Amino acid sequence: MDIFRTKSVEQSIRDTEDPEHQLRKRLTATDLTVFGIGVIVGTGIFVLTGQVAKEVAGPAVALSFVVAGIVCGLAALCYAEFASTIPVAGSAYTFAFATLGEFPAWVIGWDLTLELALAAAVVAVGWSGYFASMLASVGIHLPASLAGENPVVNVPAILIVLLLTVILVIGIKVSSRVNLILVITKITVVLLVIVAGLFFVKGANYTPFIPEAVSTPRVEGLKAPLVQVLFGVTPVAFGVMGIFSAAAIVFFAFIGFDIVATAAEETIHPQRDVPRGILGSLAICTALYVAVSLVVVGMQRYDRLSTSAPLSDAFISVGYGWLATIISVGAIAGLTTVVLVLLLGQTRVLFAMCRDGLLPRPLAKVHPRYGTPARLTIIIGVVTMALAGFVSFGELAELVNIGTLFAFVVVSIGVVILRRTRPDLPRAFRAPLVPVLPVLSVLACLYLMLNLPVQTWLRFLIWMAIGVVIYFLYGYRHSRTVQARVKSGG
Ligand code: ALA
Repeated sequence: MDIFRTKSVEQSIRDTEDPEHQLRKRLTATDLTVFGIGVIVGTGIFVLTGQVAKEVAGPAVALSFVVAGIVCGLAALCYAEFASTIPVAGSAYTFAFATLGEFPAWVIGWDLTLELALAAAVVAVGWSGYFASMLASVGIHLPASLAGENPVVNVPAILIVLLLTVILVIGIKVSSRVNLILVITKITVVLLVIVAGLFFVKGANYTPFIPEAVSTPRVEGLKAPLVQVLFGVTPVAFGVMGIFSAAAIVFFAFIGFDIVATAAEETIHPQRDVPRGILGSLAICTALYVAVSLVVVGMQRYDRLSTSAPLSDAFISVGYGWLATIISVGAIAGLTTVVLVLLLGQTRVLFAMCRDGLLPRPLAKVHPRYGTPARLTIIIGVVTMALAGFVSFGELAELVNIGTLFAFVVVSIGVVILRRTRPDLPRAFRAPLVPVLPVLSVLACLYLMLNLPVQTWLRFLIWMAIGVVIYFLYGYRHSRTVQARVKSGG
């Protein structure tokens, strides 16, 4: 069937040379690593650490970060191999087109849209919360209708997305400079937490390191994790199983390394540098997460940690409120880069889809002066502003997790397929132990997906169904691969 026609790797690379749809190649391995850290370190470490330590894993949250880091590491090796073989914008979308065919590629591109645009909006709302509380600490109180817990219109969230959209239109190099400054601020603050925090660590807070398991009140209905509905398992908090349940939540903290692959086409030496960027940023973030979580649970007993701002509140608890303010500034800088890179990744995925004709091609025109896909960037910016400004999210963030895990599964399977179908392709980076490693990656991702609530699965399936309808109404008829075939009479 022609919906499963693949696009050859050579064709994907040739498409990048079309002058009207050509992105500027400016990025180095360091730029990519900074981009990676920019998008990875965010709400996960600044917020989730406390919540998960307090409610699910205790001081062993550090081990949960290790587990989630290993799951992501398996997928990251697969992403690195793909990106070194097909250095084309679009990440998992492009990889799926080369291995599984046009329709699966559309499905994954649609799925990435869920991951990226939604995540950008969710993090922009989090940014707004930190921003409002920082203003409040210097005596400026924003009206409750414009910011805070349930605003009518979330003005700071809209403004941050607007500002970042303008930066992204102006150019990739400018974006990566702004990103660099903010990433330096964020990492300095994270290191400050680790070093300053060490002075306040009390050994007693580490016992018990793995608190005894307790069964949590059974979550019923649509809120229950799918694994519980399927197998009738009662979820437990703490204990050894708690470490794994917590890993499914702190997975969110690692989301973003995959986005490095979306910038492959703008990299000077992508075959060598994209794998370095992906694996380097993931390794650095894992080390930071383990260190921060060990320090924070050492500073304050796990059951007293704050769930909204655990890092700064741990310093307030030891009497250093001024350090807490510095940490809030770092969190604001940190969340800014997360939104920036999520928006960047989103435009690059849609760019690749438009270039293939699955979405209107004129949208992917590159701006003659700035060399960026300006039209798409503005459209994504406006949609994200609308989401961040008017929609209240809550558990919608879990949709981001399921979307990302699904993409990891497809990419891991794709590596095995491409090794079989195109063994001849030059692979600057080869994932070790294929096919064992990709199979482990798929199983690990599926395990985490099963731990997500039933309603997240339902929302995910509805989103995907909408995507399938759009594909058959538009993409299928306008796709360049299918059109080429009609023209050649094949
Ligand atoms: N990994 C990103 C964060 O923690 C999405 O905010």
